[in-house]
Amino acid sequence: VKAASVSAALNSWFVANARDLPWRRDGFGAWGILVSEFMLQQTPVSRVIPRLEEWLARWPTPASLAAVPPSEAVRAWSSLGYPRRALWLHAAAVQITQLHDGVVPSDLDDLLALTGIGDYTARAVAAFAYGHRHPVVDTNTRRVIARAIMGAGEPSPPSRGRDLDAMGALLPQSAQEAALFNAAIMELGAVVCTSRSPHCSLCPIRNDCAWRAAAYPEYTGT
Ligand code: ADE
Repeated sequence: VKAASVSAALNSWFVANARDLPWRRDGFGAWGILVSEFMLQQTPVSRVIPRLEEWLARWPTPASLAAVPPSEAVRAWSSLGYPRRALWLHAAAVQITQLHDGVVPSDLDDLLALTGIGDYTARAVAAFAYGHRHPVVDTNTRRVIARAIMGAGEPSPPSRGRDLDAMGALLPQSAQEAALFNAAIMELGAVVCTSRSPHCSLCPIRNDCAWRAAAYPEYTGT
């Protein structure tokens, strides 16, 4: 599979078909992207959007969240589930305020040092908020790579090194195209190359797809 043709096809598809999600709008900002990634870790997009907008209206900066007691963050989180995440986000806001002058850091190691931020979230913030050329690998991305590149119906269990290598091999050289590609492949897995019922007729890389070429081994859908 030619990485350049896959990434070019996915990026054009994404530019024309991306869902209009708040965190993709121009000027949404690193804090908004960080909050959205915290919320999206355990809650579907449709339930996150109203909560995210309320949250950012109330706490538009890390310093504004850091200034209230953690219990207020937990109460506002309420219906999103896993309230520990609200405490972690509050702790991260305090750290950003105290250690980074209130600006969400862009460096991977600085992001990883914040409470509640793991490898996925650090990469997502660096790539989506700051346009850095880092592979971002979530469960949707892993499924698209397993199918299109490796010809398997479902990904093997996560392996940080292998997953980052596989995504790194597809990532365009230009930082701008790479940032777009990280979002494009995730979106393809979320809306087209879904686990149970892939919509291959809508897929921009169906003619490059190793899984389709092999007549869909391990297909578990209906
Ligand atoms: N789920 C987690 N992060 C996401 C993002 N940036 N866009 C869409 N869905 C997501």
